[in-house]
Amino acid sequence: MAVVTTPAPDSDAPPPTVREAVKADLLAVYRIEKASFPQPWPFAAFQRYVGEPAFLVAEVGAGVAGYIVADSVPNHGRPLGHVKDLAVHPDQRGQGVGSTLLQRALGVMRAQNAAEVKLEVRESNETARRLYESFGFEHRRTVPRYYDDGENALVMIADL
Ligand SMILES: CC(C)(COP(=O)(O)OP(=O)(O)OC[C@H]1O[C@@H](n2cnc3c(N)ncnc32)[C@H](O)[C@@H]1OP(=O)(O)O)[C@@H](O)C(=O)NCCC(=O)NCCS
Repeated sequence: MAVVTTPAPDSDAPPPTVREAVKADLLAVYRIEKASFPQPWPFAAFQRYVGEPAFLVAEVGAGVAGYIVADSVPNHGRPLGHVKDLAVHPDQRGQGVGSTLLQRALGVMRAQNAAEVKLEVRESNETARRLYESFGFEHRRTVPRYYDDGENALVMIADL
C-alpha cells in the first residue's frame, strides 16, 4: 500500500537550527546577501567574521536560510554589542528565521557581558524596523545619507 505524505504547511515548519558560521557556509551566505541588499557586503567581509561567536547561520532542512553577523567591542567599561548584518533568503522569510537568529545573537552578546546593542537600519525598511522594535530596540538618532544611495540610517539601541 502506498504511503501518502502531505507536506507540512509553512506555519508548521520546524524551527530553524542555528549554529556558528563556518567557511563552508560563506557562498550560501553571500548569495543571500546579494539577493537581499542593493549594496551587498563583499565576500571578503564575511570571511573576516568566521570564528566570531555571534556570526550565526540558520538552517532549514539541509540549506542555509539566513545569517546574522554581530559582535561586541570594548566601550569604556562593559562591551557594546553591534548587529552588523542580518538577512533571510527571500523564499524563507516570514517564518521566524530572522527573529530566531536575532534572539540567538543577542544571547551571545549578553553572554559576552554587553550592556547594550546597537544597529543601523534603512529608514524605509519597515519590516526590519518592526522586527527590531519587537526585540526592544528603540530609535535613538538618525544618520543622514548613511547609505551610498543617499538614504538615512536609523540607529537603534536595545538594553540587554
Ligand atoms: C528583515 C528580515 C531579516 C526578517 O526575517 P524573517 O525571517 O522574514 O523574519 P521573521 O519571520 O522572524 O519575522 C519577524 C518579524 O518581522 C516582521 N515581518 C516579517 N515579515 C514581514 C512582512 N512581510 N511585512 C511586515 N513585517 C514583517 C514582523 O514584525 C515579524 O514578526 P511577527 O511574525 O511576530 O509578525 C528579512 O525580511 C530580510 O532578510 N530582509 C532583507 C534584508 C534586511 O532588510 N535585513 C535587515 C537589515 S537592517
